[in-house]
Amino acid sequence: MVMSVGGFPSLALGCFLLVLAVEPRVAQGSSRGSTLGVGGDGGIVAPPTAAGICASSVTIHGYQCQEFDVVTQDGYILNVQRIPEGRAGGSGGGTNKQPVLLQHGVLVDGMTWLLNPPEQDLPLILADNGFDVWISNTRGTQFSRRHTSLDPTNPDFWNWSWDELVAFDLPAVFDFIHGKTGKKIDYVGHSLGTLTVLASLSEGRLVDKLQSAALLSPIAYLSHMTTALGVTAARAFVGEITTLFGLAEFNPKGEPVANFLQALCAYPGVDCYDLLAALTGKNCCLNVSTVDLFLENEPQSTSTRNLVHLSQTVRDGVLAKYDYGNPIFNVMHYGGVWPPVYNLSNIPRDLPIFLSYGGRDALSDTRDVERLLDSLKLHDVGKLTVQFVEDYAHADFIMGVNAKDMVYGQVLSFFKNQQ
Ligand SMILES: *[C@@H]1O[C@H](CO)[C@@H](O)[C@H](O)[C@H]1NC(C)=O
Ligand SMILES: *[C@@H]1O[C@H](CO)[C@@H](O)[C@H](O)[C@H]1NC(C)=O
Ligand SMILES: *[C@@H]1O[C@H](CO)[C@@H](O)[C@H](O)[C@H]1NC(C)=O
Repeated sequence: MVMSVGGFPSLALGCFLLVLAVEPRVAQGSSRGSTLGVGGDGGIVAPPTAAGICASSVTIHGYQCQEFDVVTQDGYILNVQRIPEGRAGGSGGGTNKQPVLLQHGVLVDGMTWLLNPPEQDLPLILADNGFDVWISNTRGTQFSRRHTSLDPTNPDFWNWSWDELVAFDLPAVFDFIHGKTGKKIDYVGHSLGTLTVLASLSEGRLVDKLQSAALLSPIAYLSHMTTALGVTAARAFVGEITTLFGLAEFNPKGEPVANFLQALCAYPGVDCYDLLAALTGKNCCLNVSTVDLFLENEPQSTSTRNLVHLSQTVRDGVLAKYDYGNPIFNVMHYGGVWPPVYNLSNIPRDLPIFLSYGGRDALSDTRDVERLLDSLKLHDVGKLTVQFVEDYAHADFIMGVNAKDMVYGQVLSFFKNQQ
């Protein structure tokens, strides 16, 4: 039994089903002094865990860790962790170190980087190798459910898609880290965290603050995602789902989502028996203890609009902004009948990029990754490094017991080569 991280809705849908089937959840008492209560859709919103990510997953392993709040231009308050040095301590609390930012995928939060034993976790490996490590948490996830004026119970709090992560979340976190360190930043993205950085760069954002980017299990194009459940879910998201949930919170632990998933699994041709394999591909290398921890902490809420937008990406085969589904609304928002396209040819050709993808990844299908690579074909020779891991599926890149040897070693040497 396994879980998946980041990426595409259907992947996490698998988690939910599994969570629901295996381990019906009961709301526990809130321990942070803030009760999140009942979501806009009537679903029960899971309370935050007892402590922040630093306390629950970093300092317990003997590392220093600091919590920060970063406010986006559109008012969201994002929780960010900093691990300034390795376990052995070292020089000057990160002052002269190279900053690296880790950005998780959709329906999970920054904790997914920290679920394996410490010597296998990418953030801690980077810290032990002399990096100043930062972890961001996307709007709507358990520690980033805050806004300068909107409450998460208000549907307006959830009126965003990955366009806003591209335009606001990533730039805010980059500005913050750059302000603190005065340095250009190395970036590691998994799944949706790869799409957002690519789209941001294509619009000329981040360019002056980014040193290099490592893209794990990259998603950009999604049209070859072939699993029956994934495709059915994507169809539902661009079809009837908004009438089910409204365009508000998509809370994977809520009852409406459970009902939705049960309905999906009843579709002809959809086999929910071996969910994880069906959705993410067969992850070769997950640790059962890690999966249990994953189930305790994830999945996290996102906006329904974000999942609708991702499903449009599956349907349309282009990387474009959110489609209002109506030419008049598109004209109102974009000045044209079709949403503007993110043109990946605009990504600076001399930006060092490392890209690692798996042969068994059902979300980041090899044909879609090849299309992404094709859009980068004019990239400077020597600035694009590609790794193919035959046995890996979507979650192996984050939680695989051997990810340290298979992938993270390459990420480290890639970053070290840029210095
Ligand atoms: C799996 O996780 C447990 C708990 O963190 C750990 O003790 C064990 O060594 C891990 N197994 C492998 C193969 O890494
Ligand atoms: C959501 O935001 C869009 C602008 O992107 C706006 O036109 C729309 O009215 C908003 N919807 C709701 C329900 O507030
Ligand atoms: C993307 O940008 C390139 C130049 O950077 C241009 O040649 C190409 O026509 C653009 N494609 C689209 C679809 O706008």
